[in-house]
Amino acid sequence: NWSPASFVEHTVQELKEQLGQDKVILALSGGVDSSVTAVLLHKAIGKQLTCIFVDHGLLRKDEFEHVLRDYEHLGLNVIGVNAREKFLTALKGVTDPEEKRKIIGKGFIEVFDEEAKKLKDIKWLGQGTIYPDVIESLSITGTVIKSHHNVGGLPERMNLRLVEPLRLLFKDEVRRVGLEMGMQEHLIKRQPFPGPGLGIRILGEITAEKIEILQNADDIYMSQLRESGLYDEVWQAGAILLPIRSVGVMGDERTYDYTIALRAVTSTDAMSADWARLPYDFLAKVSNEIINKVRGVNRVVYDISSKPPSTIEWE
Ligand code: XMP
Repeated sequence: NWSPASFVEHTVQELKEQLGQDKVILALSGGVDSSVTAVLLHKAIGKQLTCIFVDHGLLRKDEFEHVLRDYEHLGLNVIGVNAREKFLTALKGVTDPEEKRKIIGKGFIEVFDEEAKKLKDIKWLGQGTIYPDVIESLSITGTVIKSHHNVGGLPERMNLRLVEPLRLLFKDEVRRVGLEMGMQEHLIKRQPFPGPGLGIRILGEITAEKIEILQNADDIYMSQLRESGLYDEVWQAGAILLPIRSVGVMGDERTYDYTIALRAVTSTDAMSADWARLPYDFLAKVSNEIINKVRGVNRVVYDISSKPPSTIEWE
């Protein structure tokens, strides 16, 4: 008879015994899994846990600052690293999706490694692996469609042992554990967001200008979803910046600007997904606001594709 309360009690006890006086390092992503893992470890070993939160510059608008503040409120010992320039430079001229993922994954490991080296006597690497991740990595028949694992190879390189307290839980159980430990709803109910972030939602080359356009459009979309009470109704939503321009008209002027695609899906596990039937009035409002407020965008489209055969992300 599983309950979040007994899970927390047992796991904290086990972690105390397993880790003793050892020091642990953990990468926070802003997502539910790594956040709950951090709070659980913090409950067990307090300041022996150091968390690292890397800003690769491809997070949602203002997300880094907001989430960092949330983590500090939770009492976590967290180091925020601004690595925006490093990633932007490494991604210059790159257009292939898998290449982008590799560069972002590698950059992430380098930043993490560098921070970890500054700390003394770290023995363990904490990770927010959950049961579906375990199953996915055991699958031997699956072809890699997209390489999802952003921190693969880290423990070996750094000579650390792995501690993964959520590895037997499903997502809904992880959320219940987080709530049980008093974490804020907005952290727990956060929609999934890919590790490479907006890097795989800017199709084609990533530039500082395009990041800003997409962050602004995405921010309007997500704020409207929250205000309309639709945020919790969908599994995942986000805006995508397409690498094409089209003609429009603004006042008496002809424009030649970018197109934003809006994506929202319903799903239970991201393995399959259906496009969300968002109300037309809602879409109209979001489209108007994006086109009126985001310079560089003159067209908005809505993605009505299901997975399979489409994927949730466009890259
Ligand atoms: P797809 O696009 O494959 O996405 O239907 C399924 C789920 O995985 C997320 N996703 C990623 N997550 N690194 C991640 O951490 C990645 O490279 C990556 N690619 C896709 C996607 O957002 C969706 O939730």
